[in-house]
Amino acid sequence: MTSHQAYHCDALIIGSGAAGLSLALKLAQDLNVIVLSKGPLAEGSTYYAQGGIAAVFDENDSIESHVDDTLKAGAGLCDKDAVFFTASRAKAALHWLIELGTPFDQETNALGEARFHLTREGGHSHRRILHAADATGKAVQTTLVDQIHDHPNIRVFEGFNAIDLIAGGEGDNRRCIGAYVWSNEERRVFTIGAPFVTLATGGASKVYQYTSNPDIASGDGIAMAWRAGCRVANMEFNQFHPTCLFHPKAQNFLLSEALRGEGAILRRPDGSPFMGDFHPDKELAPRDVVARAIDFEMKRLGADCMFLDISHQDPEFIQHHFPTIYQRCLDLGIDITKEPMPIVPAAHYTCGGVIADKHAQTDLPGLYAIGEVAYTGLHGANRMASNSLLECVVYAHAAAEHIMLQRDKVRIAEALPIWDESQVTDSDEEVIIQHNWHELRLFMWDYVGIVRTNKRLARAARRIEMLQQEIHEYYSNFRVTNNLLELRNLVQVAELIVQCAMQRHESRGLHYNLDYPNQLDDPKPTIIAPSRKT
Ligand code: FAD
Ligand code: SIN
Repeated sequence: MTSHQAYHCDALIIGSGAAGLSLALKLAQDLNVIVLSKGPLAEGSTYYAQGGIAAVFDENDSIESHVDDTLKAGAGLCDKDAVFFTASRAKAALHWLIELGTPFDQETNALGEARFHLTREGGHSHRRILHAADATGKAVQTTLVDQIHDHPNIRVFEGFNAIDLIAGGEGDNRRCIGAYVWSNEERRVFTIGAPFVTLATGGASKVYQYTSNPDIASGDGIAMAWRAGCRVANMEFNQFHPTCLFHPKAQNFLLSEALRGEGAILRRPDGSPFMGDFHPDKELAPRDVVARAIDFEMKRLGADCMFLDISHQDPEFIQHHFPTIYQRCLDLGIDITKEPMPIVPAAHYTCGGVIADKHAQTDLPGLYAIGEVAYTGLHGANRMASNSLLECVVYAHAAAEHIMLQRDKVRIAEALPIWDESQVTDSDEEVIIQHNWHELRLFMWDYVGIVRTNKRLARAARRIEMLQQEIHEYYSNFRVTNNLLELRNLVQVAELIVQCAMQRHESRGLHYNLDYPNQLDDPKPTIIAPSRKT
């Protein structure tokens, strides 16, 4: 083990997706920034986003309509101010991405003028989704990464996994002053000190066995903030995307909601459509309704999957609008211009998270949270499609504005505490970590999935407690590894999900409990606070 090493910067950003990189680019105009990514710089949910980003561009659309649709999808639990804040800043956020060079699809109108092509997704009453074919996230992430490379004020630490936040000072002076960070390549822990630290670590859908998310989505930021004393909210609202490809060779592959926006129909194995039995908006009903309908039909018929069919559309249109999906399915032997796609729902988005205000500030001064890790109140009990990338950019810019105003007021004088490894040894039982991983994700899927009951939640809570004890023992005695760090965070997040789910005595949006099938008249967000500050 080599000696301890510390880095310092004006602003530390943990995460390099749409949220983290948007903030980094804004701050780097004046500050010295470090950006961490736990894997390769581009890897995260952002890169895989398909459908697009919502903003009012059509002259017949309005911010009020975007607000109304978001509130409706959020099933009575959105924070209206946060919704208005986001929708009214959407166009500026999109223009910023366009100016950086994001290649959103364009079309020519009847007068021969170029304008952005707007697609449609569930819950939106207008065409308002800007997109780059069916690979919008790749276009956004690549554009942002291009700007970051060789930026004189940004240092990028790839393969650096933040373990925990460091807080300094006491009482009212307590604030975040940095983080402990594990380098997978160097196999050691560093400290990074900064007066402003931002969590941009994405969501936690990897807590479920089946997910559309990449491997990084292990809820690290939520777990770190909780351990640092921050409140979290609405962790019971886990969004299951209705249509992930059901194929043994296609783990995690999403079939964009934009397919349904452009006319795709959900069918039973016998070919009959079924969404009309569940909602007047059929395939374009809010996502929670569609996912539950698919789950219901699969369970009722004992079927492994349902089907999504766009084969009635013109083949050229399909190939032009959905080139990634068309090619991926074709590689697996499914020609979507001729036949339906087998689909199942999978965990997709974490609506809850670290409580953050309109400046993205958390409960711990100096600590900000942006993107999927944060709970801003925008999504309520169910996120509307394409509002997430939007939230990433809008709140990254809001955080940047706030940090720039604070920058001269904050000085960190104290030294960072050193990471103590004197009591630990290398692990000899990595297999136990693997087993715990699988066990956790399987019982979360079975007991805390699309449909819940009190008994299933209690069962999950007991198993989580046992896993927590084992992991604590492991963490205290052995040197950290990426797998151990992620497992520790996932178990923490699982506990928060179950705790929130047990507190909600109703079914609303994405949380459906057979023991409480009705809705309360006066619903409130579920806010929980850690009992002890570290
Ligand atoms: P991410 O893009 O997930 O980035 C997280 C970053 O944090 C990564 O760089 C990761 O390495 C880093 N990180 C995590 N933990 C640590 C740690 N401990 N230490 C260091 N670094 C860490 N939303 C839309 O609005 N429109 C869409 O069309 C859309 N399609 C989607 C399709 C798919 C398949 C998926 C999975 C999601 C989709 N979403 C969509 C949701 C949206 O993509 C995400 O919510 C959004 O990209 C999250 O961005 P982020 O910056 O918060 O996190
Ligand atoms: C999709 O393309 O279906 C994903 C859109 C989203 O999650 O916002």
